[in-house]
Amino acid sequence: MSTSENKVVELANYHPTDFVLERVDLTFELDPTNSKVDARLIFHRREGADATAPLVLDGDELTLSGLLLDQNELPAEQYDATPQSLTIRDLPGASPFEITVTTFINPEANSQLMGLYRTNGVYCTQCEAEGFRRITYFPDRPDVLAPYTITIIADKAANPLLLSNGNYLGGGNYDEGRHFAAWFDPHPKPSYLFALVAGDLGVVEDTFTTMSGREVALKIYVERGKEPRATYAMDALKRSMKWDEDRFGREYDLDIFMVVAVSDFNMGAMENKGLNVFNDKYVLADPETATDQDYANIEAIIAHEYFHNWTGNRITCRDWFQLSLKEGLTVFRDHEFSADMRSRPVKRIAEVRHLKSEQFPEDAGPLAHPVRPTKYREINNFYTTTVYEKGSEVIRMIATLLGPEGFKKGMDLYFDRHDGDAATVEDFVKCFEDATGRDLNQFSLWYHQAGTPLVTASGAYDAAASTFTLSLEQRVPATPGQPTKEPMHIPLSFALILDNGSVATPTAVSGGEVTGDVLHLTEQKQTFTFSGVSSRPVLSLNRSFSAPINLHLDQSADDLGHIARHDSDLFARWQALTDLALPNLMQASRDAREGKEVEASPALISALLETAGNHALEPAFRAQVLALPGESDIARELGSNNDPDAIHAGRTAVLKAIAGAGRDLFQHLLSETRTDGEFSPDAESAGRRALRNSALSYLTYAEQSPSIAAKAFDDANNMTDMLQAMTLLAHRFPDAEETSAALQAFLKRFDNNPLVIDKWFAVQATIPGAATLGRVRALMENPHFVRGNPNRVRSLVGSFTFSNPTGFNRADGEGYRFLAEQILEIDPKNPQLAARILTSMRSWRSLEPQRADQARSALLSIDRSSSLSNDVRDIVERMLK
Ligand code: PHE
Ligand code: ZN
Repeated sequence: MSTSENKVVELANYHPTDFVLERVDLTFELDPTNSKVDARLIFHRREGADATAPLVLDGDELTLSGLLLDQNELPAEQYDATPQSLTIRDLPGASPFEITVTTFINPEANSQLMGLYRTNGVYCTQCEAEGFRRITYFPDRPDVLAPYTITIIADKAANPLLLSNGNYLGGGNYDEGRHFAAWFDPHPKPSYLFALVAGDLGVVEDTFTTMSGREVALKIYVERGKEPRATYAMDALKRSMKWDEDRFGREYDLDIFMVVAVSDFNMGAMENKGLNVFNDKYVLADPETATDQDYANIEAIIAHEYFHNWTGNRITCRDWFQLSLKEGLTVFRDHEFSADMRSRPVKRIAEVRHLKSEQFPEDAGPLAHPVRPTKYREINNFYTTTVYEKGSEVIRMIATLLGPEGFKKGMDLYFDRHDGDAATVEDFVKCFEDATGRDLNQFSLWYHQAGTPLVTASGAYDAAASTFTLSLEQRVPATPGQPTKEPMHIPLSFALILDNGSVATPTAVSGGEVTGDVLHLTEQKQTFTFSGVSSRPVLSLNRSFSAPINLHLDQSADDLGHIARHDSDLFARWQALTDLALPNLMQASRDAREGKEVEASPALISALLETAGNHALEPAFRAQVLALPGESDIARELGSNNDPDAIHAGRTAVLKAIAGAGRDLFQHLLSETRTDGEFSPDAESAGRRALRNSALSYLTYAEQSPSIAAKAFDDANNMTDMLQAMTLLAHRFPDAEETSAALQAFLKRFDNNPLVIDKWFAVQATIPGAATLGRVRALMENPHFVRGNPNRVRSLVGSFTFSNPTGFNRADGEGYRFLAEQILEIDPKNPQLAARILTSMRSWRSLEPQRADQARSALLSIDRSSSLSNDVRDIVERMLK
């Protein structure tokens, strides 16, 4: 909940503070409902600052209980305190002074999960972006950096563990059964990276020896009894630390690195200096309860938060407009890490699928914004897939433009030049310009212009002249606040593939810059001519998704089939198969809508089955191909006037046709991928399971009976297989006896494990069809559904609204009314969660008119409420604009 209700924050108004914060000394006396916080802050007036300017500190729902200036009480007329701010006047000139602020806060009553709160009896903090101001009055902005000393006093029996950032200084017994611990973090940091944890937790311990030979203690704290489920996270942490040394030359900088897993958390995890706090979903895993996807997420998020130590903490953001400076870069780093740990092409395919299904719709709808926005009303609403994933793609493009060496030079310069700074996106880009001499001025539009560029391409071969011409045109769509756009610098990786599968090497290229296999589209229209191409090539464009664009390139099924079969690059093969499938799926949706017979193209079927049965290809890749574009991908390609029921029906019919044609192959794949050995979460084993489960999915279509999924459920010896079997039962045969038996058995077996119960909720919330809303309502009465827990709410309500296109978008509008009802109920307790779930309506304008009308009415009903949080108010108003 913001303090600046209804105020828009603008980048153009950025000014450094009048006062420099030299150091921070905090003492916490923890109590579940009445914790005391003493903050001693040493400031001096900034050189050149207005000598009469008051000191203004931020607060959020605070009450001032004590205020001293250099240990003396202040006369009442020298300050003003409101819940949102503390203003102190008549402060000294250049000499340092000390302010001591006392506040009392109630962690138990903190349902927003921002600031100091309690989760499962554990005290924990979340300060990014503006949570610190809920603990004490403070200059709560990322460009105010200081070293922190922390003293925590708490009941010893209930809280044997007292943790904060930095290195441990010491501790001991205090009074009345209490004890204390002191921590010092020598690295100046902004308040959003502060953390405190106190309670009684189990621990997994290890050590890491850094590249310069220092030994770092590693500790992962989890609920007692769950220690064995933290060993995979520990392994991922050690691999992350090593990788960051090898790949980026980054060494860890404290004596200890801690991770704490908590069960109530708004986001995935948080990179607090030396003390990462995690949603326990991204720490805990064992074969019985975690899927392969869970393992991959843990590896990626452990790495992500660890990598923030350099990209985010050592170099932080000057202001929140620069959020992508740390998030886009850190996502890029975690993507590269996972690519190195697993299969690079398969990882890239998964990234691109995610980008297209999440970021592209955001960029095409009412919530579209630039990677580096220029204004916001509520910063919590800018932790978006645009800032994160598109931000990462922009950095990937810089790497593509500069090549590996140029990119490394730029990164080294960035670390060198800005260590200890609160930096901007411009500072970052300048490092690459200075390190390589390349002008990135036009390229920077990627940070400033929202919307996914559309590139239209066509190629022509002239046999007599041995030339191939490629005509390109780019258009960046209008987005909120940005009606017109400039042409962008778009790096397009390409290959001209000859008949025998080899890549043509033209003797000359004209029409624009080409470096290696990258051509630079910089004009609105541009034609490249390649000479010395001896036979008609097949064009493969935007290879590896070198630019995050929509590409319209008319290619024949034969040409796509050629790439799908012969390209040396797996990503390009997947892309070609997707391009082959999409028009078919779109046509299927149109046909289903008009009640026509749906057809699956023979070219698609044969290309798919050939790939699926090709043992030379890795199983994970084959599974990605078999997954086909999803319903939301089809909706996005169709663009407007969408009918989710028709899309579902059309896609299902195509899948059934493939299943029928490939039945023998799928049967064969199922028996061939059987594994009875010990479970291993490695990427190769996960890939085999993925292929097996996609074969099972097609077979379930081919057989038309629940028996094979029911058998797979009974046979499953790991969570991946069990969950897939249960999903197939529930989604294909929601009313079958086998389904209710499986759902019941699953619940009974895992009813003491909330993270697994989340899967049970999510599977049921995503059953296609209008009847699911009733099921979701009934599940909300289930004792396992805990309203105050974000993971539970996301697994039931979020899965329904984000991932059940037919159930949520019921033609009668009941799904939207349900969402509105839920938003109004969640918002007063946890505005961040409410606002996030509301973004599931971000594509409402592309629905057919009847549904769009219903959606608008539901949004208006939220908008009419007079007591909305700033978070929900911001989203609903942008969505209706
Ligand atoms: N900074 C966190 C991350 O991406 C995300 C986060 C934002 C967590 C805000 C909590 C609150 O790593
Ligand atoms: Zn992050």
